[in-house]
Amino acid sequence: MNSVIPVLDPASPQAEAINNLFLQVLLISAIIFAIVAGLILIAISRGRRKETLPEQNFGSEKSEVFWMLGPVIIVIWLVAISANLVITLNAIPQADPDGKTDINDIDLIVTGHQWWWEIQYPKSGIITANEIYIPADKNKKFRVQVSSADVIHCFWVPQLSRKIDAIPGRENYIWLQASKPGSYQGRCSEYCGAQHAWMNFKVYAVSDTEFDQWVASEQLATKKPKLLSPLASAGKQFFFNATCPQCHTIYGTPAKATIGPDLTHFARRKEIGAGVIDNSPENLALWLKDPQALKPGCKMPDFKLSDEHIKQLVAYLETLK
Ligand code: CUA
Repeated sequence: MNSVIPVLDPASPQAEAINNLFLQVLLISAIIFAIVAGLILIAISRGRRKETLPEQNFGSEKSEVFWMLGPVIIVIWLVAISANLVITLNAIPQADPDGKTDINDIDLIVTGHQWWWEIQYPKSGIITANEIYIPADKNKKFRVQVSSADVIHCFWVPQLSRKIDAIPGRENYIWLQASKPGSYQGRCSEYCGAQHAWMNFKVYAVSDTEFDQWVASEQLATKKPKLLSPLASAGKQFFFNATCPQCHTIYGTPAKATIGPDLTHFARRKEIGAGVIDNSPENLALWLKDPQALKPGCKMPDFKLSDEHIKQLVAYLETLK
């Protein structure tokens, strides 16, 4: 069950470690606040009752020792738990001993784009967008390489991991793992332009079997030629005659561009436009009618498509399962 504040409902060892640190700091701060506020209240009430000035003290060894030792102990404690946390989170092999990153060690490549996420599984060749599938297994860590194709973004799944910046020309690494099954909301948490707020993604943590099935079906579907209805067939023809292939990839077709999201399995995705609307035929028609109305500033222009062409395109894109 998801809590109202996802960040307080950690679902991975890394997120748990962050949550523990947060709660301990909160507790220490709350105690200090209570002591200070309490003393002030006592002073106010006493000062109001007495007409004369209270007795004045100058220099107290006991108080001095207390004021010095207290904060020192607290700071040492905070340093210790923070250092432990940093070690837990950063125990990530950056590269091979020869200094070159081994592609085989990377489970997932995440690339930030304005304003969506490209998701690649280099070991199985799967490419998708805004959706990440991982097995829900507290012993299986996914080593994720995070980068950007344009400006600085920040990859963050509050319930699963710390944040990591997606920086153009640089690869950062992070562990992604989930201790329990669920769907976890991810967000871009670095302001990256007009649609920064709509650069969402979801991590689906599923059972090992479901994960294997997902991988198999993602790979299988690309190899099966499909029989298209006349409407879908017309949509396919329109897709390849129009400018669509100049931005999108559909595996096994001449569409091989990578400016926009890979559409190979578009119909299986749950959302359109990095979380702007649910993926349904009706919403897809709305998106094609005018993407700029739903996500102003996004890279997909308003092509002023006719209703007929939209119907055809929807029919074709819905076959991409
Ligand atoms: Cu990407 Cu904010």
